[in-house]
Amino acid sequence: MTIRVPSPNLAFPFDTAQEVERLRNAYRVSGQAQEVSFRELVPWMKVGERATHYLHSYPAKLLPHIAHFFLAASNVSKKDDIVLDPFGGTGTVVLEAALAGHTAVYSDSNPLARLISSVKTKSLNSETLMLAYDRVMARFKLSRSKTAPDVVNIDHWFEPRTIRDLCRLKSAVEAEEELCVRNFCLATFSAIIRKVSLADPRLSVPVKLKPYDGARVVKKISVLDAFVDQFYSNVKRMSKMQELNNNLPPVTCIGTDARNLKCSGNEVLPSESIGLIITSPPYAGAQKYIRASSLNLGWLGLIESTQLRALEDLNIGREHLPKSQYTNIISTGIPDADSVLSDIYVINPLRSAIAALYLLEMRQALTEAVRVLRKGGRLILVIGNNEVCGKEFKSSEYLQEICVAQGLEVELKLIDSIKSRGLMTKRNRSASLITREWVLVFRKPS
Ligand SMILES: C[S@@+](CC[C@H](N)C(=O)[O-])C[C@H]1O[C@@H](n2cnc3c(N)ncnc32)[C@H](O)[C@@H]1O
Repeated sequence: MTIRVPSPNLAFPFDTAQEVERLRNAYRVSGQAQEVSFRELVPWMKVGERATHYLHSYPAKLLPHIAHFFLAASNVSKKDDIVLDPFGGTGTVVLEAALAGHTAVYSDSNPLARLISSVKTKSLNSETLMLAYDRVMARFKLSRSKTAPDVVNIDHWFEPRTIRDLCRLKSAVEAEEELCVRNFCLATFSAIIRKVSLADPRLSVPVKLKPYDGARVVKKISVLDAFVDQFYSNVKRMSKMQELNNNLPPVTCIGTDARNLKCSGNEVLPSESIGLIITSPPYAGAQKYIRASSLNLGWLGLIESTQLRALEDLNIGREHLPKSQYTNIISTGIPDADSVLSDIYVINPLRSAIAALYLLEMRQALTEAVRVLRKGGRLILVIGNNEVCGKEFKSSEYLQEICVAQGLEVELKLIDSIKSRGLMTKRNRSASLITREWVLVFRKPS
């Protein structure tokens, strides 16, 4: 039986060190990955709302319970550790780290993800936000702004009335003076974009909604109703976060590329400066982060539609490649991966090259992660295995091989089943879904 040691931190009521030790022993003895349910490992954390985690949707978000479980373990996370998530997405890891009292840093190639992470991890009180709400509403009523930003295929995705109201709302929000408050309003504005568009809300990438979805007539919500609703929900999330921890340590963005981590002043992040890395890297050949964010990126003015492809090129595991890059099989130096990649090449040379480049670029990112990790620190990877052209692509094994070659020791392997459909791109329910997640815990030897 596990005896849980209570802690005075409301956000982290128990130390999970004993559970970690039990799993480590079981792994050591059996050599087998241990099947777990992270929801059951941290039963005090309800599934659903917690702090600001659900302020904005994003594909393939990490289950907060996974980050929480390791951050709550005193034998994994030391009090003074700076926590890093190099593939930060919308800040699930750094938010949990800050709630636990850690200084935290992240990078992400997607500017939408960076905006959401920064809003989710900066505490703002309800009074400040409700005053901003009144000002935004007053400006919205008076606004005659008609200049739509550069949104890819805007007339295809939005009705004329929606475009008009979004233009008015955007100018009302952008007039907020204080940066943190303006960013909160912008993230809230962004959170309604897909809801008021003609895109199917169940899918991560924009696919035009059918007006009659089976028996159901699909009704669209107005821009104003959606914003009011979202604003109130997000304010509630902020105040819940303050109830959990009203003294959040700083959470800082340290770059746009996991392969090249920076610190303030654009200098290289010092070696061995990080105590704990928890991250869920992109999946091999399943990334649609930029396509999924394209409408938001356009409305927020974060990128011009002609630059979307260039932004995708910064992504590890991209969707497209020029033909010149897949005229030959690309070798990764990982024998099992190379064998699968040559089978895939026969079926689809492009998919084979995308998966091979994914591994080569992940090797660069993991090399950078190992460089910044202190001796004795942990790197925790959350990875889904998936299929490429019907062939099983064991990303967790290939990434493990890369980490071990970098001198890391495997301390623990866990498997959890995930129900998320965050990366679904087709209505077809049989579309290849990632159903199991591997959690690999590595230690940098002292
Ligand atoms: C699985 S998602 C992370 C989700 C995150 N854990 C969350 O809960 O929101 C992977 C992230 O890696 C980012 N990414 C892809 N290539 C990158 C790169 N070269 N450097 C940094 N981030 C990158 C994507 O933009 C995406 O946000």
